Amino acid sequence: MRVALVQFRPEFGDISGNIDKAFSMMENTEADLFVLPELCFSGYTFTSKAEALGLSESAKDGFTLNQIKAFSLKKDAGMIYGFPEKDGDSLYNTCQFISPDGETRIYRKLHLYYYEKEWFTPGNLPLSVFEFRGGKLGMMICFDWIFPEVCRTLALKGAQLICHPANLVMSFCQQSMITRCLENAVFSVTANRIGSEKRGEFDFEFTGASRIVSPKGEILYQGSIDKDEIGVADINFEDSINKKVNFKNDLWADRRPEFYRMEPNGEE
Ligand code: ACM
Repeated sequence: MRVALVQFRPEFGDISGNIDKAFSMMENTEADLFVLPELCFSGYTFTSKAEALGLSESAKDGFTLNQIKAFSLKKDAGMIYGFPEKDGDSLYNTCQFISPDGETRIYRKLHLYYYEKEWFTPGNLPLSVFEFRGGKLGMMICFDWIFPEVCRTLALKGAQLICHPANLVMSFCQQSMITRCLENAVFSVTANRIGSEKRGEFDFEFTGASRIVSPKGEILYQGSIDKDEIGVADINFEDSINKKVNFKNDLWADRRPEFYRMEPNGEE
């Protein structure tokens, strides 16, 4: 399977212009799956909940979903992108998978970063894995990387490729994804945005450097820190089935979960 990441600089609030930009970037790339950044069409730096709500859409229908569905069909490729999701009275930081035959899946960010806590409700859906073109995909969003339980849970549920839309502002994640892939023997694709957003009291610089990593911790694609670009890698899902480290060690068989269950106060 050929996986592509789309790294770009959206204009805050210009959903339709940002969709057009991403589509023109992807137009001439052939891939089975395109992974785009977190909140990639709305922009990231909301200054109020009302503003985030004003740019939100339903995961079931809406302008962005319909545009992406049509593009997925035209390209015969799966798509994963982040958007502010309105569901009833709740607003989630969500990413959505769409397949060319119209199948959709959502993941709602479990670990909200900084002021996201003011606008969004923490995700309320279990971490889940789904099949696409011979492999099992799992999704997480940006700051979820710092909680190793997320990748671990997805991997234990059978994920072979972790799709990771991001708007990273710290510089540690990209390196850490090597460890996440090694400790779980999975592939990952981190699609990060670039550029800066100075809005209200916030001034964020996004770190780019999107990357695709193999189960052996090899960097299969490394993006720049400041350019719009598409990164592509051919991955073989089989490479994530074997959890053996050597003849005597196995990432799954050697786990000792009975010793890991503990709260920060030391209570088991
Ligand atoms: C982040 O989770 N967008 C930093």
